[in-house]
Amino acid sequence: MQIGVDYYPEHWDESMWETDIKLMKETGVKIVRVAEFAWSRLEPEEGRFDFAWLDRALDLFHKYGIQIVIGTPTATPPRWLTTAYPDVLPVFADGGVFHPGVRGHRCYNSVSLRKYGSRIIEALARHYSSHPAVIGWQTDNEFSMLDCHCDSCNLAFRSWVQEKYGTTEQVNEEWGTVVWSGEYSSWDELTVPYGGSPFQNPSMLLDFQRFQWEAAIAFQKTQTEVLRAICPQHFITHNFHSYPQRLDMHGLAEDLDVASFDYYPNPSPQKQATAPYSGALSLDLTRGIKRRNFWIMEQLSGPPGCWFPMWRTPYPGLIRAYSWQAIARGADTVVHFRWRSAAAGAEQFWHGLIDHSNVPGRRFAEFAQLCSEVNGLAPLLEGTGVISQAAILYSHEQMAALRIQPQADGLDYYENIKQYHRALTRLGIGCDVIGWRQPLEGYKLVIAPSLYLHDEAAAQLLEDFAAGGGTVILTSRSGVKNMNNICVMQPLPGLFSRAAGVTVEEYDPVGGDVHSLRSPDGILYECSQWCDILRPEGAEPVAWYADDFFAGAPAVTVNSFGAGRVYYIGTHAEESYWLKLLGDIAPDAGLTLFPELPDGVQAFTRTGPKGELLFLLNLSRTSQTVGLDKQYRSALTGTPISGPVELAAYGVEILETQG
Ligand code: GAL
Ligand code: ZN
Repeated sequence: MQIGVDYYPEHWDESMWETDIKLMKETGVKIVRVAEFAWSRLEPEEGRFDFAWLDRALDLFHKYGIQIVIGTPTATPPRWLTTAYPDVLPVFADGGVFHPGVRGHRCYNSVSLRKYGSRIIEALARHYSSHPAVIGWQTDNEFSMLDCHCDSCNLAFRSWVQEKYGTTEQVNEEWGTVVWSGEYSSWDELTVPYGGSPFQNPSMLLDFQRFQWEAAIAFQKTQTEVLRAICPQHFITHNFHSYPQRLDMHGLAEDLDVASFDYYPNPSPQKQATAPYSGALSLDLTRGIKRRNFWIMEQLSGPPGCWFPMWRTPYPGLIRAYSWQAIARGADTVVHFRWRSAAAGAEQFWHGLIDHSNVPGRRFAEFAQLCSEVNGLAPLLEGTGVISQAAILYSHEQMAALRIQPQADGLDYYENIKQYHRALTRLGIGCDVIGWRQPLEGYKLVIAPSLYLHDEAAAQLLEDFAAGGGTVILTSRSGVKNMNNICVMQPLPGLFSRAAGVTVEEYDPVGGDVHSLRSPDGILYECSQWCDILRPEGAEPVAWYADDFFAGAPAVTVNSFGAGRVYYIGTHAEESYWLKLLGDIAPDAGLTLFPELPDGVQAFTRTGPKGELLFLLNLSRTSQTVGLDKQYRSALTGTPISGPVELAAYGVEILETQG
């Protein structure tokens, strides 16, 4: 358990380094990430490596006992490389080139990028494999999907499709290319989707996404293979960011030891109602990537800005509280971005812990407090992790398919997940967000939002879970298509109707038109986006539509399945309905709630050999009171605590159970 900072020695005069590093040491910083954008300094011209400056920096870090993660510099190919080998640069659907000058200008399939990328990584790995300060590596920086249409991608996509389907006849069959005379009669007719038209064949578009996800994975593999071979004693991570990303994060993470996340909760008051909750989802999703504790590789340290007007400065306590939120939800290391705000370059106003003045101020003092708290509690936190009763199933494939063909106004896969997760968070139900094909043992409740693409294995997984006593919640737009993005010719929700005991008689994509549903106690709730008119076939209705031509038709059903139960929610109900439903489900499903958490307050538990640690986080600008039903001891102050505990604005309490 440790706190770190991101530091860019190449941005500062060398005379400043030791003063900076000394202050890091005094402040309690244990980890520093370096070099992820420094290609032009590490290899100033083709084949001429210069690691001397980084040696001097790393030797200083070592002198002060600080450990180092090196970022591979492939997100910023230098100008000599892109000029001599323009195939490094991605090409957009309209033929435009992603020119150098910013960053991320790299095609994952580029032969030159892979060649020169692997070469510098190999040189770095050999040089630093036995450096006493270096403990690990970060691959590239913040992978994202570019939809590259360059010649390398075109050829690679064609081979990928060939490999997957064997013959053009098979491609025609699996993609349904007969529609609009899109049939391929020879392989050279098959290209990446030029033009970017949304009218293109949806099966092809989904496979193009799959191809690119695999390209990012293959590109990362060119790095991890070199690093594993030369530095077997080091760990490898990648810093994922800003969810949702069109990435196969789970696939990428198979080659990593630990997943990392770059966490920038918006500190502006207008975002106070949402930022703590979308942040909680990001953290739970990151923990779900490898189903274990993770790192934060970049954490908010000051007002962000630059290419947009700056957000508000973090309110007193916010920097510390959000770091503790990350730790509560499974972060084992939190690295703050960045030590000092950049004086030059595109990110001058994405503030670090120390301002341009180089005079440590209020934010720095708060960071110093965080360091000393984390260092003090490290022995207690060591070996603790998160055990959740509930899981939300997340799928980059569902998200991609639902984006290729938007189903109804406002129906957004990730936004809907946010709402379900927020309801769980407000009820204090700990939740993992895991890949949709992951084993489900140990959970009591599984929420499976819009399993739009499906197959027998997906249906079977949920049936087995329910049969064994689990509670499943399915939502509308499930079981619509096969995995090729082709509609299945059977009543919705396709294969899931076996477990749900219900079929969809008809649907209405109501979009933004607000409708209502009625619970058995007569309370009305708003619903929108979609209305499945349900026909129970074994299931019991538990809510009915209250308006339109389908008034009185079932909107939500529950089916007993083996020892468990399967809910089907045929519409997008407002959050208060989810709060009620989850509250009703909790006793039977065996879920423990943390009742009456005030807005903005989150409760989360880490469990380890020495017992449980309850984190109470007030992620709001007003003080709040939380009721407690047990005797606790504050791990921060040592004081016994029982009954209501008052949390100041952005206050944090970490409680050990007494006795
Ligand atoms: C991250 C990125 C950092 C820095 C930061 C602030 O997305 O990895 O290098 O740019 O955002 O914008
Ligand atoms: Zn490309």
